[in-house]
Amino acid sequence: MNFNRPRFALATLSILATLSIPVLTCSVASIADADEPPTLVSTSKSPVIPEQVTFNAHIRPIMSNTCFACHGPDAEENPSGYRIDSFAAATSVLPSDDEAVGIKPGDPMHSEAFLRIIDEGNGEQMPPAEFRHRLTDYDKALFRRWIEQGAKYEQHWSYAPIVRPAVPAVNTFADKVHNPIDALF
Ligand code: HEC
Repeated sequence: MNFNRPRFALATLSILATLSIPVLTCSVASIADADEPPTLVSTSKSPVIPEQVTFNAHIRPIMSNTCFACHGPDAEENPSGYRIDSFAAATSVLPSDDEAVGIKPGDPMHSEAFLRIIDEGNGEQMPPAEFRHRLTDYDKALFRRWIEQGAKYEQHWSYAPIVRPAVPAVNTFADKVHNPIDALF
């Protein structure tokens, strides 16, 4: 058989080229995807709303993802004038309406901030529709419970004074506890 080498090489090359087209297309597509900002950033995954909602564990992460960019301490631009990063500011009357407050402790349905986050579709929704992050239903439920429980703000944990925790009382295996650290486990 007359085995024609150059022709064989040419055929192999063209097969390889055809095969690599979809591979190349895929990688270009995934590079394009990577440029898209994530539309949903949820800081909280569990569907069960905790009994006690706290500012540092639950609310601060939500606010820093979805509110602080425009209503926080380092907001580059805060056209509304409303600040939500401290109890005093968040619970004051609104810059735009001295009959309403942003957060009314114990009463989410009279808290303009909460009404704005559950309001979808009439143009007053917060964060604004074009903002890069959204609140999930779970985030909204946490927000609601936090206001119901008094909207207590907490210092950032890194500024909070160190408090010595109480050593828990141990009933079972008490004979195995030789020092306070043992009691924690
Ligand atoms: C991208 C910027 C941006 C983000 C993020 C944002 N807001 Fe706003 N917010 C605005 C602007 C602009 C206004 C003023 C226009 C308006 O009233 O809709 C406003 C107004 C408000 C008002 C009414 C203030 C007033 O005086 O009437 C409240 C309350 C509010 N935002 C709460 C929130 C909460 C809560 C979040 C987070 C869940 C949030 N906003 C996230 C831009 C933002």
